[in-house]
Amino acid sequence: MNDPLPLVLVTRALPDGWLGALDGRCTMIVGDADTPGLDPPLLDALPRAEGILCLLTERIDADLLDRAPQLRVVSTMAVGVDNIDVAACTARGIPVGHTPGVLTEATADLAMALLLATARRLPQAAADVREGRWSTWSPTGWLGADLCGATLGIVGLGKIGAALARRAHGFGLALCHASPSPRPELEAALGIRHVPLPELLACSDFVSLHVPLTEHTHRLIDARALARMKPTALLVNTARGPIVDPGALAEALHAGTIAGAALDVTDPEPLPPTHPLLTCPNLIVLPHIGSATWGTRRRMAELAANNLLAGLEGRRLLHPVDPTMAIRPRP
Ligand code: DGY
Repeated sequence: MNDPLPLVLVTRALPDGWLGALDGRCTMIVGDADTPGLDPPLLDALPRAEGILCLLTERIDADLLDRAPQLRVVSTMAVGVDNIDVAACTARGIPVGHTPGVLTEATADLAMALLLATARRLPQAAADVREGRWSTWSPTGWLGADLCGATLGIVGLGKIGAALARRAHGFGLALCHASPSPRPELEAALGIRHVPLPELLACSDFVSLHVPLTEHTHRLIDARALARMKPTALLVNTARGPIVDPGALAEALHAGTIAGAALDVTDPEPLPPTHPLLTCPNLIVLPHIGSATWGTRRRMAELAANNLLAGLEGRRLLHPVDPTMAIRPRP
């Protein structure tokens, strides 16, 4: 007997209950929890799949879509969609759902944590304690940068950028942002100035990136941009790795063009242990954990499930991706 329920491929196994909304509404084939990409059983089932629920580790491109003629919705458990060829989905009439909003606070928390950790040199100080280099209180030991009175430049005043601005305000930072257009009401509410990117880079003590990865933001922070920054400045990236040119950043850190960087995202991910960036002084690298709290990840999964259901039922997705904002995944 034919299964009346639509077939959905869930590319990576998630904790019990996170996709509870899908119970009884579809038949699921679930991939391995820790293996990126589509496992062989999922690839085999592509011709019959009506929905895909994926993570940012899965490349959803035209080749894959061609193998899934029944597909009616792609739902990613992420806000970023640079792993998905949204134009190819749109051309096939397949809506793409993502999960903005629910990860805003957790990601802004992590950006603030990275800013503090790099400004106050926490990794070096903690390592020195563990490794026996703490011999006395030292008037010049582990000196870092003051936050109060310094300037934070936020590149991209979207939801996460604005949430970081609210946090930074409490630390006494002066704020500016570079975004495609000014947002006068939000700027007044947050006490933040809109400036062109070159000015932001030149005047900021800390620069934090909060733009999506698009054709326009790929390598936005290249050697030229880094050269505009103060030699005392620190760069924080919790957005997407390819926004920063990793080679240029490695050179800038070695040469002292800027004083340090803290990256939650890199290009590539994961960063191989031999990558030149990992030899850099004053660099923190985290394994893309901006949204990694129990509550946030669960809310992301629930939203992804509800986007998927809407697509399967022919309703408008709760959060459809705007195709004009998307980049094609790189080969
Ligand atoms: C996203 O959702 O795009 C983040 O990078 C991971 O939570």
